[in-house]
Amino acid sequence: MTAEELSREEAWARAWDRRSPVWEALVEVLMTALAPAKDERILDVGAGAGHAAVAAASAVGPSGEVVAVDMVEPVLRMAERRAREAGVDNVRFLQIDAGSDEILGAPFDAVCSLLGVMFFTNPVGAFTNLRNHVRPGGRFVAVAWGDPAENPLLPETLLAPFAPDANWTAVDGVYGPFALAPRGRALAYLGTAEWKAIEVEPIRLNPVVPEEAVFDEALLDMYGVEPRRREEALEHVRAEVARHRSGDGVEMPLSVNVVTAKIPELIQD
Ligand SMILES: C[S@@+](CC[C@H](N)C(=O)[O-])C[C@H]1O[C@@H](n2cnc3c(N)ncnc32)[C@H](O)[C@@H]1O
Repeated sequence: MTAEELSREEAWARAWDRRSPVWEALVEVLMTALAPAKDERILDVGAGAGHAAVAAASAVGPSGEVVAVDMVEPVLRMAERRAREAGVDNVRFLQIDAGSDEILGAPFDAVCSLLGVMFFTNPVGAFTNLRNHVRPGGRFVAVAWGDPAENPLLPETLLAPFAPDANWTAVDGVYGPFALAPRGRALAYLGTAEWKAIEVEPIRLNPVVPEEAVFDEALLDMYGVEPRRREEALEHVRAEVARHRSGDGVEMPLSVNVVTAKIPELIQD
C-alpha cells in the first residue's frame, strides 16, 4: 500500500471515529435484532472502528468470543483501541476479505454486520462464503442503509449534488452504501446464497447527536468535492443541518434495513 493510500485510509478511520454517536444508535438496533446470548461465538463483518464488535463481545461475556474482520488496517487498529478502552478482551480482529477468504474460528453461532455488507463486490459469492462459516441453526443479522432520501444528513446524501460519486450506488447498483436499500436486493442475494427465513425490516430513528458527529469539513475532500465548489457545498450542508437542530445537538433522521436470515438445523434420523 502506498503512503498516500495509507494516509487516506487513516483519514477515513479518524472521520469514522468522530461520527461514533451515530453508529452507537445503530449498534442498539443491531444488538436488539441479534440478541447475542452468553457464551456465543460471533463473526462481525466489516468491523470498521469496532462499535458492533465491542457491543457483541460484551454481550457474549468472557466465555463467548467475537471474531471481527475488516479489509482495512487503520480501522482495525482503531477497533482494537476501542476494545481495550472498553476493557473487552474476548474479541479478535483479523484483516481479511470476508467476501472470499477463509475465516479462522468457524463455525460461528451467528454472523453480524453494522453497515458492512453493502460493500461486497460479489454479493452472492460473499453471502455464500459467510453461510459456510456459520453452524447449522445459526443466524445472520445485518444493518444496512435504507433509501438515501430518508437519510438526508449522511455525507453520501448531503454531498451528492457536489460530488456525484458520493452516492455511488446510484452509478453501480451492485455495491455501495445504498446497495441494500431496495428490499428485494437483500432477499435475492441471500436467497441465491441459500440462506433461509430471510427478512428485511425497515427501521427509522432520529437520535440527537453532536453536530460534529454529523459533518466536518474533512468529509468534503474525502467525498471528492471539487475545490471550486467547497463553499457552495458547505453552505448547503449548514442549511440542511440547521433544519434538524435540536437543543445542543442535531436530530439526525436515519433509515436502515435490518436484514435477518437463518441456516436450518440439521435433521437427525
Ligand atoms: C461503514 S464501515 C463499518 C462500521 C463498523 N461495523 C463499526 O461498528 O464501526 C464498513 C466497513 O466494511 C469494511 N468492508 C467492506 N468490504 C469488506 C470485505 N469484503 N471484507 C471485510 N471488510 C469489508 C470496510 O473496510 C469498512 O471498514
